[in-house]
Amino acid sequence: MDIGESEQVVGGDKDSSFPFRFLPNPNLDRAAPYTLAEQWILNLARHREVHDEITSWPDYQPTPLLDLAALAGELGIGRLRYKDEGARFGLGTFKALGGAYGVLRIIQDEVQRLTRRSGVTGREILEGAHEEIASGITVTCATDGNHGRSVAWGARIFGCNSVVYLPPAVSRAREAAIAEYGAEIVRTTGSYDDAVAEAQRDAQHLERFVVSDTSYEANVNIPRDIMQGYTVILAEVGEQLPESERPTHVFLQGGVGGFAASVVGHLWEAHGAARPISIVVEPDCADCLFQSASHGRPTSVTDVHRTVMGCLACGEVSPLAWYLLERSVDAFMAIPDEASETAVRLLGEQVPPVAAGPSGAAGLAGLLCIAQDRKSRETVGLSGTSCVLVIGTEGAIEGASGYLEG
Ligand SMILES: Cc1ncc(COP(=O)(O)O)c(C=O)c1O
Repeated sequence: MDIGESEQVVGGDKDSSFPFRFLPNPNLDRAAPYTLAEQWILNLARHREVHDEITSWPDYQPTPLLDLAALAGELGIGRLRYKDEGARFGLGTFKALGGAYGVLRIIQDEVQRLTRRSGVTGREILEGAHEEIASGITVTCATDGNHGRSVAWGARIFGCNSVVYLPPAVSRAREAAIAEYGAEIVRTTGSYDDAVAEAQRDAQHLERFVVSDTSYEANVNIPRDIMQGYTVILAEVGEQLPESERPTHVFLQGGVGGFAASVVGHLWEAHGAARPISIVVEPDCADCLFQSASHGRPTSVTDVHRTVMGCLACGEVSPLAWYLLERSVDAFMAIPDEASETAVRLLGEQVPPVAAGPSGAAGLAGLLCIAQDRKSRETVGLSGTSCVLVIGTEGAIEGASGYLEG
C-alpha cells in the first residue's frame, strides 16, 4: 500500500458522493516497534486482566458482530463487519467499557490504600465487601453524554457516588439517561472545556476523584485504564471472526482519540506491521486529530459543535491517545454530516435493521466516502478482497431528535 506520502487528497471527485478531506499520515512509521513507552499506555497483559474483569460483570454479553454482506457487495469490498456496540451493557455505547472501568480502578486503589491490602478484586467490590469505603467515594466528570453515563452507571454498580457536569449543548434526554443511574447533575453555562475545568476545580476542594477520558498532566492513569477497557471489543472480535477473515482495514471514529488509540495500539502490539490499515474519521468541523497529523503536533480546533456527530465534537486531542496514534494510523479523514446521516440510513435499511446514531455510524460513513472515491480508495488499498471492520460505537437512543445528541 502506498500511503506514506504527506500529500493531502481532497475527496469528492466525480466518483464520490460526499466532499471529504483525506490525509495519508505524514508521520506514519508502520514498522516502528511497540516499545516499553507504548506498552506503558496499553499492553496485552493488562488487556487480558481488563477482559477477565469486565466479562465477569453482571449482564456481560459480547456485542454482535454483523456481516453486512449486501452493503459490502455494493461498495465493492470482500467483507464488511459491523460491531454493534448499541447493545453494550444496556447503555447503548462502547463507553460502558471505559468510564465504568475507570470508576472500578479508583475504588480498587482506595480500598487497597485504606486496608493496606493488594489484589482487591472487582468481584469483592461488586458484592459489597468494601461498601463502607466505596460509599465514601465520589467520582466526577464532565461529559457531552456517553462518558458521563458510563461513569454514573459504574458508580451505581460499584457502590460509590457520582457527580456529572453537563455543558448547555447536552440534551435533556441525555441528562435524564445519566441521572437515571443516581448521578448528581451539575449544569454548567460555558463550553465543554469550561465544564471540564469546573469539574476539576470542584473535585480538588471537595475531594472527588476525576474520571477523565482525556489525559492531562495531573491525570494519565485513569484515561489509560479507560482506553484499556475499550480493548475488550477486540478480544470479542478475535473470538467472533474466523482467522481467514481477519480485518485488512479498520475505520475508527475520532473524538479526543482514546477510542481509536485503544484499537490501533492494541493491533500494533498484537500484529506489528502486519496490522490492518487504520483510518480515523472525524466530523469536518471537529477534526483535531486530522489537524494534529497535518501539523505534526497536537493541534486544537474551535467551534466544533456544528455537527450532528455530537459525541465526536472535540477540539483537543488526548495527549496519551495522540502518543499512540501519531505514527501508527495510516490515514485521517474529515467528513460532512451528510455522510454520517447516509450511514445511519443505510444501517436502518439492513435486514434486520441496525440502529445507530450519527457518531456511532461515522466509521461506516468514512468507508462510504472512501469506497466511492477512486483516488483515496486506491491509496488505502481497498479492493474486492478487503475485509473491513467498522465499530458502531453507539446505538440509537430515543431522545428529542430520535437519538441523543451531544
Ligand atoms: C459514540 C461515540 N463514538 C466515538 C467516540 C470517540 O471516542 P474518543 O473521544 O475516545 O475519541 C465517542 C466519544 O465520546 C462516542 O461517544
